[in-house]
Amino acid sequence: MNIMVIGSGGREHALVWKLAQSPLAEKIFAVPGNPGMAELATCVEGLDVKDHAAVIDFARRNSIGLVVIGPEAPLVEGLSDDLIAANIKVFGPSAAAAQLEGSKIFAKQLMKKYGIPTAKYEIFSDADSARSYVEAEGAPIVIKADGLAAGKGVIVAQTVEEALSAIDEIMTQKSFGAAGNRIVVEEFMDGEEASLLAFTDGRTVLPMIPSQDHKRVDDNDQGLNTGGMGSYAPAPIVDQSVLEKAIEKILKPTVAAMSKEGKIYRGCLYAGLMIVDGEPKVVEFNARFGDPETQSVLPLLKSDLVELMSACADGTLDQQSIEWSDESAVCVVLTSGGYPKSYRKGFEIDGITKAKALGALIFHAGTVERKGTLLTSGGRVLGVVTLDKNLRAAVEKVYKAVGVIGFEGMHFRKDIAARALSKSEA
Ligand code: AMP
Ligand code: GLY
Repeated sequence: MNIMVIGSGGREHALVWKLAQSPLAEKIFAVPGNPGMAELATCVEGLDVKDHAAVIDFARRNSIGLVVIGPEAPLVEGLSDDLIAANIKVFGPSAAAAQLEGSKIFAKQLMKKYGIPTAKYEIFSDADSARSYVEAEGAPIVIKADGLAAGKGVIVAQTVEEALSAIDEIMTQKSFGAAGNRIVVEEFMDGEEASLLAFTDGRTVLPMIPSQDHKRVDDNDQGLNTGGMGSYAPAPIVDQSVLEKAIEKILKPTVAAMSKEGKIYRGCLYAGLMIVDGEPKVVEFNARFGDPETQSVLPLLKSDLVELMSACADGTLDQQSIEWSDESAVCVVLTSGGYPKSYRKGFEIDGITKAKALGALIFHAGTVERKGTLLTSGGRVLGVVTLDKNLRAAVEKVYKAVGVIGFEGMHFRKDIAARALSKSEA
C-alpha cells in the first residue's frame, strides 16, 4: 500500500519511520516532509495541504491507500472529511470530531455533559464578566482562548493581575484573533501531568503507552513554554490504577460521547492529563499524536502501525491487539539558541552519524539540506531518542548520543525524565 503522511516535524518523522517498518507499506510520500523523512519517503514539495482538491488529486495519481494527517490544522480544516468523501482512506478525525482540540469550549461542555473528570470552569464572551469572575475566584487560575492558538492560548496565572492581563490580551487586544472571541476560565489543578494517547475507530479504544512531555525551555521546568523539549515513556506517574481510571473514566467515555453527539471520533485521541492525588483529570484533548511524545512512544510499539491505522479508518479496531516493548524510551529535543523566542538558523549540524552509531534514533524537526550539508532551519531542530531496559539506562544512553551532536547555539534540557528517576529511587 502507498501511504501519504502530512506534516514536516519530528512527530511526522517518527510516524514515517514506524510506518516504513510495516510489510504492508510500499511507497511512502511525506508532504512536505523533511531531510530525515527523505531517507524513508519521497518528500513532496509544492503541494499545498490547504488545497484539498490538490491533495486528493495527488493521492489518486499515486494510488495512495492511506493518508495519515500529523498536525491539527488540516484536521480542523476538514481535510479528513474531503478525503473520505473522495473515497480515500485517512487516519485522522473529521473536522467535527477534531473540535475536541479545535474548541476548548466544545471539549469542556462535552466533558461536563458526560461527567468526564476535568477542572471546573466558566465560559465568557465578554471581558467584563470574565474579569469579575476572576476577581471573585482569585488566583491561581487558568485562562484559555477557545480556538487554536499554536499552543500559546493558555495562561496559567499565578496572580489575579496576571489573569486580568491575559483576559485583556486575548479578548480586547485579540492577540490570537477570532480564537479569543470566547474564553474558558478554569480552576487551577495542582498535580503532575502526563500524556495518554489512544487509537480509536469510534467504538474500540486501544491506549498507547503513557508518556510525559517537558514543555518549559530550561531545566527544572524554568523559562518559557515551548512546543516540547523532550519526552519519555512509559511514565511511571501513570501506574496501573491511574491508567485504568484514565481508560475507563476518560478515554472510553469520551469516544462514546463523541459518537452519541454524531461526531464519530476516528484517529489518535490525545488526552493531556493532570494527576491529582491518584485521580486523572483532563487538561486538554488533542486530535492527533503529541510532539514530542510520539518520538518516544512509537519506538516502543511492537505492533504494525499500518494495520492499526487502517483499522481505525475502517472501524475494525476490535479485531486488532496492540503490543508494547517492555523497554523505556527517552527523547531529548535539540533546539536553536533563543527558541522559543527569535533564533538564528542555517548552522551546520554535526555528529548525526556518530549519534546513530551510539544506538540513537534521530528524528528531524527543523532541518534543511543544502548542497549535501545538513543545516538548522527551525526552533526545534532534532529529537534524539534511545531505548534501553529501563529509564535510567535510556537516559544515560540518550545524553551520550546528544553529546556527539553539535551546531552553533544548540540548546537542550539536561533533565529529561529526571523527576521520574528521582521518584523511582525514593
Ligand atoms: P493546554 O494547551 O490546555 O494543554 O495547556 C497548556 C498547559 O497549561 C498544560 O500543559 C498545563 O501545564 C497548563 N494547564 C492548562 N490547564 C490547566 C489547569 N486547569 N490547571 C493547571 N495547569 C493547567
Ligand atoms: N506535546 C504536546 C502536544 O503535542 O500538544
